[in-house]
Amino acid sequence: MRLSKFFLPVLKETPSEAKIISHQLMLRAGMVRQGAAGIYSWLPLGHRVLRKIEQIVREEQNRAGAVEMLMPTIQSADLWRESGRYEAYGKEMLRITDRHDREMLFGPTNEELITEIVRSGVRSYKDLPKMLYHIQWKFRDEIRPRFGVMRGREFLMKDTYSFDLTPDEARKSYYKMFAAYLRTFARMGLRSVPMRAETGPIGGDLSHEFIVLADTGESEVFCHKGLVDMAVPSANTDFDGDLVGIFNERTSLYAATDEMHDETEFNKVPEANRLSARGIEVGHIFYFGTKYSEAMKCSVNGPDGKPSFIEMGSYGVGVSRLVGAIIEAYHDENGCKWPVPVAPFHVGLINLKTGDAETERVCTELYQKLEAQGVEVLYDDTSARAGEKFATMDLIGLPYQIVIGPRGLKNGVIEVKNRNDGAKDELPPDAAFAYVTDAIKKALELA
Ligand SMILES: Nc1ncnc2c1ncn2[C@@H]1O[C@H](COP(=O)(O)OP(=O)(O)O)[C@@H](O)[C@H]1O
Ligand SMILES: [Mg+2]
Repeated sequence: MRLSKFFLPVLKETPSEAKIISHQLMLRAGMVRQGAAGIYSWLPLGHRVLRKIEQIVREEQNRAGAVEMLMPTIQSADLWRESGRYEAYGKEMLRITDRHDREMLFGPTNEELITEIVRSGVRSYKDLPKMLYHIQWKFRDEIRPRFGVMRGREFLMKDTYSFDLTPDEARKSYYKMFAAYLRTFARMGLRSVPMRAETGPIGGDLSHEFIVLADTGESEVFCHKGLVDMAVPSANTDFDGDLVGIFNERTSLYAATDEMHDETEFNKVPEANRLSARGIEVGHIFYFGTKYSEAMKCSVNGPDGKPSFIEMGSYGVGVSRLVGAIIEAYHDENGCKWPVPVAPFHVGLINLKTGDAETERVCTELYQKLEAQGVEVLYDDTSARAGEKFATMDLIGLPYQIVIGPRGLKNGVIEVKNRNDGAKDELPPDAAFAYVTDAIKKALELA
């Protein structure tokens, strides 16, 4: 992509309404623009990151055996009356009346709608288990939207729903999502810790929030340090096999958010291993048994011919929140530092002297060669000053910068900068091409 064709409205000043670094950088780097409180447009740069995160989430859901679909944003109030949540949900639900005076709502979540779909499409226990998901915009009329996309009113969520015949089977579905989430966040460069969360009236131990540690996180969390560095399930994980080991290994160590925190239990962790910190909730998984299936009469006939209510769970990932969470984890005073798998482009190519025939030639050739290898390049072909080009590239934080100008070319070299560690190398164009192509391919392979 040539910068001259792209749309990158960067800001020089930090908008005063932005209180945390990710919000500041997303506005300054021209990633999002607020339309109304807690409602954002995703500008081209931010949109590219959002889609990459979404794609990683999708790949890991598919790997775990969940099946993608798409439900609408607008739902009928009647379904929510069946579950009893239409009244219970309160002011967070955006209620809409259509021209026929029918009550509608902008979906804050989808348990009711998916339960309705499954009850009409599943008859026998042989149709189970099923895991279905979609990635769709939600609306929750949060009383205090803040921190940009971290706590928005309109936000993109991946939500999966599991359907099983028995509680034991439901537990297996829960383990699949548990393992899939660890992989999902790790592929974005995030270390996530599953922490016990409120289970509500059903009780039990099957509700976990996946927390990324960050000073600006909204939740106060307490855990055993060992959880932070624990290895993530590999790409070869057999999701049809027994995953209880992955679950037990983590849940045997203390980890809880403030709502579930138990000081006495926490103090049993050796002091050197106690970690109390702040964190960002990037995912939340939940087993709730027959709460919705009973209320909405969603049942299957078992092997004995008798009907039984389906055991359900739901599993959310905050796709748009993750954009902010990743910036919180990867930035410096000059801007973002994207991990390769979620970077809006892999390489920023800077032409230091537009109009200079030799510089133009080397830039264009390298640009085309990299793109042909699947390396995504943002080519700054504009006539802006060098200092401004450098500042913009650092701000938007592409993993590699390649700087080409007449002075270097006289000696046959161009500069490659690694945005992550700041290391710079002067290399002949061919060597620079090989180095960058290799580095990008390796970083993407780790998946
Ligand atoms: N207002 C919001 N803005 C952005 N992301 C959100 C918001 N609310 C929830 N999410 C994301 O969606 C995931 C699933 O939501 P859920 O657990 O149902 O929400 P909550 O914890 O707010 O009750 C959360 O883990 C979080 O990552
Ligand atoms: Mg939650």
